[in-house]
Amino acid sequence: MTDQSGLDYQFDTRVAEQYDVIRGHPAEVSDEIGRAIAAQMPEAARVLELGVGTGRIALPVAAAGCEVYGIDVSAHMLAWLSRRIATEGRDNIHLARGDITALPFREGAFDGAMAVHVLHLVADWADVLEQVSRLVRPGGMLVLGRDWIDPESFSGTLRNTFRRTVVEVGTEMLPPGATAAAPPSGGAAIVKTLMDLGAHPVGEGEVIGAEWQTELTPRQVLDGIRSRDDAESWVLPDDVLTETMRRLDAFAEAQWPDLDAELPVTRRFMLGVFRFGDRARA
Ligand SMILES: C[S@@+](CC[C@H](N)C(=O)[O-])C[C@H]1O[C@@H](n2cnc3c(N)ncnc32)[C@H](O)[C@@H]1O
Repeated sequence: MTDQSGLDYQFDTRVAEQYDVIRGHPAEVSDEIGRAIAAQMPEAARVLELGVGTGRIALPVAAAGCEVYGIDVSAHMLAWLSRRIATEGRDNIHLARGDITALPFREGAFDGAMAVHVLHLVADWADVLEQVSRLVRPGGMLVLGRDWIDPESFSGTLRNTFRRTVVEVGTEMLPPGATAAAPPSGGAAIVKTLMDLGAHPVGEGEVIGAEWQTELTPRQVLDGIRSRDDAESWVLPDDVLTETMRRLDAFAEAQWPDLDAELPVTRRFMLGVFRFGDRARA
């Protein structure tokens, strides 16, 4: 398919098949995340999910009692999710294929919205939030979720080194003005935009929706980045990725003598929660 968003990567069949394997949460963690998000919404809320993907978040939120309306540009991700909805026999998830930069819903249609790992993929994320501020009724909620890996763990260290190395290598190899990574949409910029739109953060910053422990080997993390199963590496040109991996492999070998030894990693699912005010909507 043609990616309507005009981005230079595709959530194609390969990614759809791999997505739940790589990014999926353990079943009990998934349930906990669903309950944590639903708890931020009014009871039986109609909730719009931007970039619903394979339903990693939509399915547990629907299981926790919300009526979820998921939109996604990728037919492959939606096909995968449709199969899961049928298998689970869910009747409270509704899907639409479309671009979140042109949301096809009426004003005030939702009690809440949620976005997980999607706004950074859209250059004009601020306009998406502006649209969301109209589609969610006054007093409705927005939940921004994200996966968190302990930055002090070996996996966090590897990922941070990967990001630094991409910048180093990209600066050396790409033409002046080109950027090696996806368009940034940093947390502080999002909060400011939302506040300008009349939304207020609920509580003191993000809350922990779920926390769990996993064990991974350095080789698994390196291979995930190398094989482009990792969202941060699939946007990189081949030569930038190859040189980045050469440096990252050398770093890992010096740091961890046994790349196949399992090491503990603490993971969390974080929620940023906002409430839309009664601003006069222009
Ligand atoms: C990294 S996945 C996240 C999926 C899901 N939110 C999750 O956390 O499991 C990003 C999803 O956003 C979708 N997406 C990216 N750009 C989009 C756009 N402009 N409009 C609609 N969906 C988009 C992709 O097709 C993909 O399914």
